[in-house]
Amino acid sequence: MSDFVKEISRRRTFAIISHPDAGKTTLTEKLLLYGGAIALAGSVKGKKTDRHAVSDWMEIEKQRGISVTSSVMQFEYGGCCVNILDTPGHQDFSEDTYRTLMAVDSAVMVIDAAKGVENQTRKLFKVCVMRHIPIFTFINKLDRDSKNPFDLLSEIEDELGISTYPMNFPIGDGVDFKGVYDRETKHILSYEQGDGQHEAKAVEADINDPSLDALIGERLRLQLRDDIELLEGAGDDLDMDKVRSGKLSPVFFGSALNNFGVEPFLKNFIMMSPAPLPRETAEGIVEPTDPAFTAFVFKIQANMNKAHRDRLTFLRICSGKFERDMEVCHVQGGMKKMRLSQPQQMMADSREVIEEAYAGDIIGVFDPGIFSIGDTVCSPGKSVMFEGIPTFAPEHFARIRHKDTMKRKQFVKGATQIAQEGAIQIFREPDSGMEEVIVGVVGMLQFDVFEHRMRTEYNVEIINEGLPYQYIRWIANDGLDPKTLNLSSDTKIVKDFKDNYLLLFTSEWNIRWALEKNEGLRLEEFNR
Ligand code: G4P
Repeated sequence: MSDFVKEISRRRTFAIISHPDAGKTTLTEKLLLYGGAIALAGSVKGKKTDRHAVSDWMEIEKQRGISVTSSVMQFEYGGCCVNILDTPGHQDFSEDTYRTLMAVDSAVMVIDAAKGVENQTRKLFKVCVMRHIPIFTFINKLDRDSKNPFDLLSEIEDELGISTYPMNFPIGDGVDFKGVYDRETKHILSYEQGDGQHEAKAVEADINDPSLDALIGERLRLQLRDDIELLEGAGDDLDMDKVRSGKLSPVFFGSALNNFGVEPFLKNFIMMSPAPLPRETAEGIVEPTDPAFTAFVFKIQANMNKAHRDRLTFLRICSGKFERDMEVCHVQGGMKKMRLSQPQQMMADSREVIEEAYAGDIIGVFDPGIFSIGDTVCSPGKSVMFEGIPTFAPEHFARIRHKDTMKRKQFVKGATQIAQEGAIQIFREPDSGMEEVIVGVVGMLQFDVFEHRMRTEYNVEIINEGLPYQYIRWIANDGLDPKTLNLSSDTKIVKDFKDNYLLLFTSEWNIRWALEKNEGLRLEEFNR
């Protein structure tokens, strides 16, 4: 195998998804700890101390104690080069989360053992299913009183429609949580309570080891024996084809806070998760080992750090090798040749200029404002275009105006730039200008972020008037004049910035009404 192919095949690029508070940030940090990327795990989000989680760095995050933006973290583990793409985890998350899932090759779903499958998990899970990527499950917080592990597995299967294969099984829960039983080695790993900042000490013992009672107690040993019997008697086999196609999820149990079960998870994950996957383009499949460099933009972020005041574009490399100063073409920019400026890899707020990167890696480049989400960048002579990243349907809308008419220019600039990054979507009423816009967001928090950024970065105070719409549909019929449509009085016609017409609805009932009253009308939820 050439060094080039070796480098690509050792990449693992994934995102962690969860309902807020299930432990995504904690698990991310513990993976970094075990991966040697940080020496000491900080107290998550600094609620109790001043130490902030490594992935938490935007000002508003610090103010509200939540992760708003996604960052990328890379570390080496077990011969693999691991890229974790952080996703915002708050109740109100943005399209960034969805887009991040477009850039990964697998996902880790964190579930709170006391709560089971929650709302946000379902939403994010749907996006993973759409991409057919492997999904690994980490059932967290076993150190608290938890649901029965078998019930948790059934819940995942029933609610999400994916089969499960427990790779290990918890020994006790709550104060009795002792560790996990590894089904493959038939060994138990019994942990010693530590401070959570360092790796947890574990004792490994065979399931038939006579000293097991001393480690986990007779009651738990007997319970485990029954559990194993049940496990072996029922459930799916570990079919790696099913794992690879996202139909079967390997499940791990543990407690991220206490570092119980984090290492076995990481070890197995590295072995089982896929190296960079081939990607579809309009011109056919691009293999990651194709020597030509190809990448697509999945995220744009302006003014990430006040000290830098810049706009960074994040590219997922899909094939080939990136070298600093190499010449590339921007496909959507008419194959314009360019050099990517100061390519960087990020570890939360510290950046490092990189010399080379391979398929699977994420690089951030300075962007003078030419890239849009979904754009393709490739080696000259390689003309491909990756499938666009869908625009996800916003669910909350507001009419936004500037308070001070003297600030019109800054208002337009701010709103346009923030929309270009994909942090919000902006729409106009067909005949209105830019004095006021209709802003659509996936999560309510984005309104706060928008307001905060308009004030701190563009010096504009805005007036935000909430609108009752909840559903948006793009009109897919070419050349249709929406004014000719028969619509209910509370349906609104708007335009996006590519001048496509859309309809805003207050209820699903109104959508059905529009479809029934206008034969041939085609409405789409996503706009590619
Ligand atoms: P998120 O990114 O998915 O939103 O979750 P995050 O890691 O921030 O964890 C949410 C809370 O759950 C945190 O508590 C964290 O310490 C706690 N937590 C994470 N993993 C475990 C675990 O394995 N066991 C237990 N018992 N708790 C865990 P927090 O924000 O500090 O709030 P608080 O609970 O201390 O008040």
